[in-house]
Amino acid sequence: MTADRHTAAIVPAAGRGERLGPGAPKALRLLGGAPLLVHAVRALSASHAIDVIVVAAPAGDLDEVRVMLDQAELATEVLVVAGGESRQDSVARALLALPAEIDVVLVHDAARPLVPAELIARVVAAVRSGHEAVVPGLPVADTIKQVDEGNVVEATLNRAALRAIQTPQGFARQVLQSAHAALDPESSPATDDAGLVEALGRPVLVIAGHEEAFKVTRPIDLVLAEAILARRRSAGVLG
Ligand code: CTP
Ligand code: MG
Repeated sequence: MTADRHTAAIVPAAGRGERLGPGAPKALRLLGGAPLLVHAVRALSASHAIDVIVVAAPAGDLDEVRVMLDQAELATEVLVVAGGESRQDSVARALLALPAEIDVVLVHDAARPLVPAELIARVVAAVRSGHEAVVPGLPVADTIKQVDEGNVVEATLNRAALRAIQTPQGFARQVLQSAHAALDPESSPATDDAGLVEALGRPVLVIAGHEEAFKVTRPIDLVLAEAILARRRSAGVLG
């Protein structure tokens, strides 16, 4: 932790979770009795690498989210703002709430509740060592093919050169802010924040990700998350 409170984490949590099926917004769905968002925010706090957390919550659930995060009694300060229509919009709104003294910003999906604290700390360390944009990534297991509108294969990509990118993604604050300011969310829908930085022509470094930083997207992902959490709890790891 920096003595001067310079590192923030933005947590986009305002999505509906349509691929997870009917129910509460995804970030508020339960995993081992606690909302996904609470797991993600606890991990950020437990990393001791983050000084303030800004959550972009579903606009209709702000009070509920504030109460739930108060009850989690975290050691780290947490601010809650209303998210927007797209993930990019939610991150942009959270950026507006960052305290002035912040110079490094992580963006971490609420939908990645089991992210290990050590991965969070490694991303912060890589940004602080001079890389202005850092993302965790893993080699891909499947062969990835590019198809046309009729589902006919156009190309088979070279798997050895591909990485599946996770969060937390870490940035020098100025770089992330410039990337968000430069791009119109409607004309350039990036699926991650590093994509915006790449569009500016700036370098993005990939560091080793972690299997447990996977995103809860579909129902089967919740089954996996419950199993990992049960294993951690039986091993005596809090979560
Ligand atoms: N997110 C957000 N604001 C939005 C859309 C998404 O803050 N308008 C957040 C989600 O809450 C999630 C993260 O961005 O933590 C990654 O998005 P994704 O996995 O796509 O979540 P959802 O959009 O909720 O899911 P789906 O696309 O299945 O509806
Ligand atoms: Mg989505």
